[in-house]
Amino acid sequence: MISIIVPTYQEVKNLQPLSEMIQSAMQSGSEPLAYEILIMDDHSQDGSIEQVAALSEAHPIRIIDRTEDRGLSPAVIDGFYEAKGDCIVVMDADLSHPASAIPEMIRQLRNGESDFVLGSRYVEGGSIDDSWTLWRYVNSVVATLPALPLTKVKDPMSGFFAVRRADIPKREDLSPIGYKIALEVMVKGDFEKVSEVPIHFVDRIHGESKLTLSEQLKYLRHLRRLYQYKFQTKAEFFQFAAVGSSGFIVDLAVYLLLQTFGVSHTVARAISFWPAVSWNWMLNRLITFSHREKTAKTTQWSAFASSSLIGFAVNYGTYYTLTNFVPFFQEHMILALVVGVIMGMGFNFTLSNLFIFKKLREEVDSESRPKK
Ligand code: GDD
Ligand code: MN
Repeated sequence: MISIIVPTYQEVKNLQPLSEMIQSAMQSGSEPLAYEILIMDDHSQDGSIEQVAALSEAHPIRIIDRTEDRGLSPAVIDGFYEAKGDCIVVMDADLSHPASAIPEMIRQLRNGESDFVLGSRYVEGGSIDDSWTLWRYVNSVVATLPALPLTKVKDPMSGFFAVRRADIPKREDLSPIGYKIALEVMVKGDFEKVSEVPIHFVDRIHGESKLTLSEQLKYLRHLRRLYQYKFQTKAEFFQFAAVGSSGFIVDLAVYLLLQTFGVSHTVARAISFWPAVSWNWMLNRLITFSHREKTAKTTQWSAFASSSLIGFAVNYGTYYTLTNFVPFFQEHMILALVVGVIMGMGFNFTLSNLFIFKKLREEVDSESRPKK
């Protein structure tokens, strides 16, 4: 059986056309497909409950009236554990997602062609509603770009997907923030075979979109967490290096500024280190390691500054050794400088990652847990 999970909030007018669209899609093949529709409703109080009761005479449909932990993603996640079918489909209620794609999605899951099938607007044969303005399209593309490295699909924003129930990640691994539950499941589930079937995305006729600005901001947080999850230390190192580069600019600016006030260049050099280090420490605390323990600021700052001082010694020592003892680097001193910077930064990063920004218990736990 196929469980079709539909998150809803005030979609009463769409429930009947949705049920009919699904019914005709499921009967379209040579053999009808067995299914159930789970309406995961956030206590809409718009007559949805009565409407589903009426529809259930002719359709395999039931409604779950949710009163806690509201939101699109939590509703879908609850649906995963309510579902009885071997395959799960998630789709919107507003008729944007064509049910006619479901049989093909299920076929690919059942014959093992794919482990995760996405209804996609941006593969060949797929399309968006004609009414889409250029502005809306640009918006969609801009939101899609930063999600591309996380998966191999062309439409990571899509909310229409099918997956085997057995492959759904564990509840404690799924974070319910934001609108992008398909992206969440795709990244956390780490599927071997992911495929896309083309869909024509239709704009809703009844009711209105619930995608607010606050949801769009949550999307950025969601992306950051997924990057963290997927790339872990690599993501942290990347941010650490970006912060370090911005710190270099602070360093340089202070160094030049002090000299315009008549400070000698050696003294300016010795002073400019400190605002740069403090800048780096602050940004690493706020960004790179924002998910780590909030250790007392003064202790952490001192540890970070000490590590940076030693890091600088490593950097300089590497440069000195290479240019004095390795003939190759005597001819390519700029490369020796680069190697020195990398060694120094690697040293700093390692200390920061392991000791200065301490891991919280949950992070340690999730690292030791198998991914699936
Ligand atoms: N239970 C519940 N709780 N359902 C919700 C909530 C909520 O807080 N907010 C929205 N929904 C339901 C809606 O009732 C609808 O069935 C579905 O989630 C999608 O909501 P829309 O408001 O229609 O969203 P959209 O059209 O802006 O976004 C859709 O298209 C995007 C791609 O353009 C969604 O499918 C997104 O996931 C998708 O990325
Ligand atoms: Mn919609």
